[in-house]
Amino acid sequence: MHVVITGAGRGIGKALAERYRTAGHRVTGTARDGSADLVLDVTDPAGHRAMAAALAGDPVDLLICNAGIYPDKGQRLEDGYPPAMWADAFAVNVTGTFLAVQALLPNLRAARGKIALISSQMASDQRAPGGSYIYRASKAAVLNLGRNLSTDLRAEGIAVGIYHPGWVQTDMGGAAAEITVDEAADGLVARFDALDLADSGCFRTWDGREHAY
Ligand SMILES: NC(=O)c1ccc[n+]([C@@H]2O[C@H](COP(=O)([O-])OP(=O)(O)OC[C@H]3O[C@@H](n4cnc5c(N)ncnc54)[C@H](OP(=O)(O)O)[C@@H]3O)[C@@H](O)[C@H]2O)c1
Repeated sequence: MHVVITGAGRGIGKALAERYRTAGHRVTGTARDGSADLVLDVTDPAGHRAMAAALAGDPVDLLICNAGIYPDKGQRLEDGYPPAMWADAFAVNVTGTFLAVQALLPNLRAARGKIALISSQMASDQRAPGGSYIYRASKAAVLNLGRNLSTDLRAEGIAVGIYHPGWVQTDMGGAAAEITVDEAADGLVARFDALDLADSGCFRTWDGREHAY
């Protein structure tokens, strides 16, 4: 199996890459700084074109869109959430996810591959504790992207799943988070293995629970 993972230089993406490699699969990981196989800033369209060129003719069985940022922790409703922060978060979390899928469509078609989008429970409309407006809206958009991609790609045999990885002890999740990066990665690998067309469009947690949209 050939697995492509964005944001594979640290955190959940790195742990996923290690697992697939250990299991004997080929991994193309991307990172912004050259710490993975391909240099890719997901906000840069030229970077996506370069990735598509580097992988031309190379079938991709699983694309994991993992790269993400959460810039608005601790922002105040009264005077926070500046427009540039909205733009940055959407460029990475939403546009970056879409451009990666678009760039690798020929590779996914060649393998009848699968797409896993890393969203968050913070995407759900059913769960609205307030705050983190930018991150929540961007992850809701990722969920929406995945739902619509699953419709468009079903006829081609490409399944799309959307996932909450848990609250994970990474740079983003912080040391107080509920689960380790190993627990998150083990669960996600099991979820991605189980993803099929019958389940396409699912929104699931790392440990297999269905999440409310
Ligand atoms: N940790 C949690 O509790 C949690 C909960 C729900 C959802 N998630 C989601 O899980 C995914 C992974 O998060 P994590 O916890 O592993 O976070 P992390 O440790 O902060 O890692 C974030 C990853 O995204 C990459 N990234 C950021 N901006 C990028 C850009 N412009 N271009 C390419 N890559 C970029 C980073 O690469 P660099 O090293 O180059 O910065 C890094 O590999 C994210 O989508 C996040 O929203 C995490």
